Amino acid sequence: MNRRILMLLSVLMVAMLALTACPAPGGAPAETGGAAAGGDAAATGGDAASTEGVKITAVMGDNIREGEQAAIDYCIEQTGLEVEVVNGPQSATDRIAQYLQFFGAQASDVDVLMIDVIWPGILAEHLIDLAPYVENPDDYFQRIIQNNTVDGALVGIPWFTDAGLLYYRTDLLEKYGYSAPPATWAELTEMATTIQEGERADNPDFWGYVWQGNAYEGLTCDALEWQVSNGGGEIVEPDGTISINNEAAAAAFDQAASWVNTISPPGVVSYQEEDARGVWQAGNAAFMRNWPYAYSLGNADDSVIKGNLAVVPLPKGDGPDARNADTLGGWQMAVSKYSENPEAAAQFAACIAGKDAQKLLALGDSKLPTIGSLYEDADVLEKNPFFGQLFDVFNGGAVARPSTVTGDKYNEVSTIYFTEVNKVLTGAQTGQEAVESIEKQLSDLLQ
Ligand code: GLC
Repeated sequence: MNRRILMLLSVLMVAMLALTACPAPGGAPAETGGAAAGGDAAATGGDAASTEGVKITAVMGDNIREGEQAAIDYCIEQTGLEVEVVNGPQSATDRIAQYLQFFGAQASDVDVLMIDVIWPGILAEHLIDLAPYVENPDDYFQRIIQNNTVDGALVGIPWFTDAGLLYYRTDLLEKYGYSAPPATWAELTEMATTIQEGERADNPDFWGYVWQGNAYEGLTCDALEWQVSNGGGEIVEPDGTISINNEAAAAAFDQAASWVNTISPPGVVSYQEEDARGVWQAGNAAFMRNWPYAYSLGNADDSVIKGNLAVVPLPKGDGPDARNADTLGGWQMAVSKYSENPEAAAQFAACIAGKDAQKLLALGDSKLPTIGSLYEDADVLEKNPFFGQLFDVFNGGAVARPSTVTGDKYNEVSTIYFTEVNKVLTGAQTGQEAVESIEKQLSDLLQ
C-alpha cells in the first residue's frame, strides 16, 4: 500500500517535472540541504524542541520486523517527530531504480531513506552531509564511515553492516557423521550431496544448498564470493584494473552452475534472499548462503529449525590463492537534499543509526551493528553468539564490491556482472564466455 503510494508519487513527480520543466514543489532544495548540512547543535539532539511534532517520511525496510520496529518507535519517542514509515522494495536493484526516479524528480516527499553500502557514489549528489549530526563518529567502523564519505561529506550514517555467511544444520551434520562445517566448496558439494540423498528418503522436497541466483544485486554478492574465494580477483580492482577475465573466476562460475538441479533447486536461478530462506526455514535445506538477518528468524519460536542452525564464513575454493570471502553489505541512513525538513530528518537518521537503536536492531533482527562496542554487549552476544565469533569478518574482513572505484557507474557495472553470471547459471553460456563478455562490457563502460 505505502509502496504503491510512493511509486505513484514518484511517477507523478516525474510527469510534473516533464510538463513544467520547473523545480518540484518545495523549491530551492539545494539551499535547504546546504543549510542543514551546516547546522550544529540540533545535530546531536540538543534542540529537539524546534522540530517537535514535525512530520517526516522515512523509507525503511521491505518487511519491518521486531527490531526495526522497536528502533523506529524508540526514535519517534526520542525526537518527538511524527514519522510516516514507507516500505522500500525488497530487491536492492529495484530499490535503486525507484530512488533514482524519485531523486530525478527532486521530490520532497521523502526525507529519510536507507541506502545500500554500494550507493554513496551513486546518490551523493542528492543527499545532505550528516557529519554534523553524528555524536560519536569514532565509535563507528571507520571502513564504513570512509565508504560513506564522498567529497568530504558523510552522505549516510552506518546503520547496520552485513556479510554473506554459510548457514548449516547442526543436527543434520551430526546425523551424517560430519564433525565440522565445510571448509571448501568441494567439501560443501560433497556434504550437501550426501545429506540430500539421505533426507530425500523421507522428504522429496529436500535440497543440499540454497543461495541467491536471480539476476539482481544479490547475485553480484554471491558471485563475488565464489570468485574471490577461488582467487579470481574482485571484478574491478581498487586501482581500476578490470581483472574479471581470469580462469579462477570462470571456474568459480562453472562450479556454481554445476550445483543447479543437483544440490540446489532448478529455481535457484531466480532466487533472492527470502526465497532461499523460505526453503531453508521450512527445514528443506542442509546449507544456505544468506545474510545475518536469517539467524534470528531461523531461531524464532515458530521456526521448525530453531536451535539446529549455526553460521560460519563461506567456504574457500581450491586454487593457490583461495581464501574465505564474505561479501560486505549493509545499509546507511541518509537524508534527501530535497527534504523540506532536513533538520528533523537528520535527527531521526542519527537516532536510528545511533547506538541504542542499533542495539534494538541487533537484539530483534540479528542485524550487525556498525558500532564496535555493541559486539561486547552481553545482551547482544547472548542472542547472537556469532557476532563475537566472527567479529573480524564483520569489522573489516568482508570483501567489498567495487563500488568506490567505479563510483556513480557501479550500478551499471553490477548489472553487467549479474546478468552474465546468471546466464552461466541457466546454462546459456560458460564461465569463460561470461568473464570475456563482462571484461569487454566493463572496458566500454569504464574507459
Ligand atoms: C543485503 C545487503 C546489501 C546487498 C543486498 C543484495 O541487503 O546488505 O548490501 O546489496 O543484500 O541483495
